[in-house]
Amino acid sequence: MRSSHLAVAIVAVLSGLGLGRASAQDTVKIGVVIPMTGTSAAVGREIEAGTKLYMAQHGDTVAGKKIQLIIRDDASVPDNAKRLAQELIVNDHVSFLGAGLTPSAMSMAPLSAQGKVATVVMVSGTSVVTERSPYYVRTSFTLGQQSGIIADWAIKNGSKKAVAILSDWAPGAEAGKVFAQHFAQAGGQVLETLKVPLANPDFAPFLQRAADLHPDTLFVFVPAGQAGPFARQFAERGLDKSGIKLVGPGDIVDDDDLPGTGDTLLGVVTAGIYSAAHPSALNKQYVDAYQKMTGHRANFISVGGYDGMHLIYAALEKTGGKTDADAVVAAMKGMAWESPRGPISIDPRTRDIVQNVYIRKVQTVNGAPWAVEFETFPNVKDPLKEASPK
Ligand code: PHB
Repeated sequence: MRSSHLAVAIVAVLSGLGLGRASAQDTVKIGVVIPMTGTSAAVGREIEAGTKLYMAQHGDTVAGKKIQLIIRDDASVPDNAKRLAQELIVNDHVSFLGAGLTPSAMSMAPLSAQGKVATVVMVSGTSVVTERSPYYVRTSFTLGQQSGIIADWAIKNGSKKAVAILSDWAPGAEAGKVFAQHFAQAGGQVLETLKVPLANPDFAPFLQRAADLHPDTLFVFVPAGQAGPFARQFAERGLDKSGIKLVGPGDIVDDDDLPGTGDTLLGVVTAGIYSAAHPSALNKQYVDAYQKMTGHRANFISVGGYDGMHLIYAALEKTGGKTDADAVVAAMKGMAWESPRGPISIDPRTRDIVQNVYIRKVQTVNGAPWAVEFETFPNVKDPLKEASPK
């Protein structure tokens, strides 16, 4: 009797001290704000899968801390993102935020900056986003990173006259800007730039206009989730058989949509940061595990979530579990590791991702279309930050 009373008393004291089970101090919360519903729900789904796969493979304890992932749906409405980030900071006491699409990442930035919350940008591809908070660190990509490289490739391979079709929002504007700069500098001419509404896009009139201008090359940026509809309308207008060369950043051959595009995109060349066909042992493991977990192919969005979790885990290990934003971001700066996409690092000056950009051609492999890499540009920085150093 006496010893069991003693045991109960000891448990009571220990749990009172927070030693009996994981206490608030032992738990590190990560609040990720992404679209799980609405037109960009596919983006949220891939980020969620990437983050959860990382945790399934690496456990939920780092440097003695229990990791708790909280996913919040902003339906890609920036005001929602701001409110949700505020609630995550004030009510849930998150130590880290994860940011998604550009407009939401922009609206969350003041909260990250003023609240001093280390935030991993897992989706946005717009250069300026990382400059909006000193605690923003990116694991996704920038459109500029890919668009200059594909312009140079096109010119080298005979392109002279291009038309650009761009999704009408910040990442589209940057893709078009960097493409046009490189294309013109190398002696090419951009005949016209056509801007397609972001929501519920109908590509047909823009594709017709582009065809009427008789370019030799079509440069296209549409965001994740729109490659499938774009490919369908491209084929419906017969443009896949017109002899016009279709090029772009990796988004137009998104591995999420590519398997459903049949022969339409065969031969299309893009400059991208990730292909599920990337031939490394780590990527083969990643693609297999991802397929098992989700039932579909891993895409370039998913690695932003997977690598985002790695960055948080590695930073916590380096700080010994300390979550102070200044210490964490200092730990993240300069960090380098192998991602399923290849070697990546965090530029210590800009907190932006440095990564390989691959030239890939869509080919049929084992009966399905894949973006097969054939040339590598190593360690590419965001060119817009290199052009105007801050
Ligand atoms: C962005 O939010 O900037 C973004 C999202 C999806 C893309 C590209 C850019 O495919």
